[in-house]
Amino acid sequence: MSEKSQSQSSPQSPVKKPTILSGMQPTGSLHIGNLEGALRNWVRLQEDYWMFCCIVDLHALTADWQNPKVLKDRVFEMAVDFLGAGLDPDKCAIFIQSEVPQHSELHLLFSMLITVPTLTRLPTYKEKKDKLDSYGFLGYPVLQAADICLYNADKVPVGKDQEKHIWLAADLAERFNNTYRKVFRVPEALLTSIPLILGSDNRKMSKSYGNHIPLEATEKQTEKIVKSYYTDPKKIRQGDSGHPDKCPVFLLHKVYSPDPESEIAPVCKSGELGCVDCKMMLSANLNNALQPNRDRRAELLKHPADVWDVLATGRDRARSRAENVMEKVRAAMKINYRGKKK
Ligand code: TRP
Repeated sequence: MSEKSQSQSSPQSPVKKPTILSGMQPTGSLHIGNLEGALRNWVRLQEDYWMFCCIVDLHALTADWQNPKVLKDRVFEMAVDFLGAGLDPDKCAIFIQSEVPQHSELHLLFSMLITVPTLTRLPTYKEKKDKLDSYGFLGYPVLQAADICLYNADKVPVGKDQEKHIWLAADLAERFNNTYRKVFRVPEALLTSIPLILGSDNRKMSKSYGNHIPLEATEKQTEKIVKSYYTDPKKIRQGDSGHPDKCPVFLLHKVYSPDPESEIAPVCKSGELGCVDCKMMLSANLNNALQPNRDRRAELLKHPADVWDVLATGRDRARSRAENVMEKVRAAMKINYRGKKK
């Protein structure tokens, strides 16, 4: 769909749809925490918004700058995971950040409008500054603000941990509008309640902890990980009473099983249900829920060129929208020397 027809209202929706920009770092294969925490939400949102889904490879370089050769595979995997989750390339532009150079351009221009102390005060910077103190890492949130403002996004679906970055993007948009002229919409975070999903060791599910259930895992592999899950250390054998409210397996039942409060919790507490059986039930339900994703992934992996095509189409749509905004930005900042606008 061309950018022009996109920004006009369609027959089904007389109201112009608002825009969403979402971004994710290509850090390797995604897991069910990413699926339930972000992707399922994006898939719902694509019905009501114009979506731009950006694979932020430049952000990934802030950490992986010494090992850039991993990027290509990770970007590809991320595109497969996005499509596998049900993102529809007709409804949302899926693209690679570095393929739209306007992101870097706006990042540089935005960097004039923000002070260094504002950036060093951010918790995300403070957390990692001992390991990562590059100029690029300091500017990470400025690049994120550029990602968002470049599409004049109304909403940005993120987790609580990213809220400050969205405020910063809103602040940059307003500052720009006040300093020059109104070019940007002021973006807002779209916080949605997401289910808590813990990893096999009872910590937050994360690829870096190695406690995750990858979307690419087969049924057997998934079952094996579920079997390895941490459970109540006081419930050693069937007959011992368990504490579902403290068990990461029960958290997964809450997401994937039909009626865990009445079918799992009471029999776990009473001891009738042992952990092995409980995990087998979960594996079956989890595998069931992941089946549509697996089917789509298998199909995509047979045709890798199609995945790259989706990224090329996404790139073209993103570029045309981004260039539109950048023309206004350059004109406002008086760096369009041969342009028409004074
Ligand atoms: N910083 C985000 C994260 O770590 C990733 C990101 C980059 C992003 N650019 C974005 C998220 C733009 C939303 C919008 O999760």
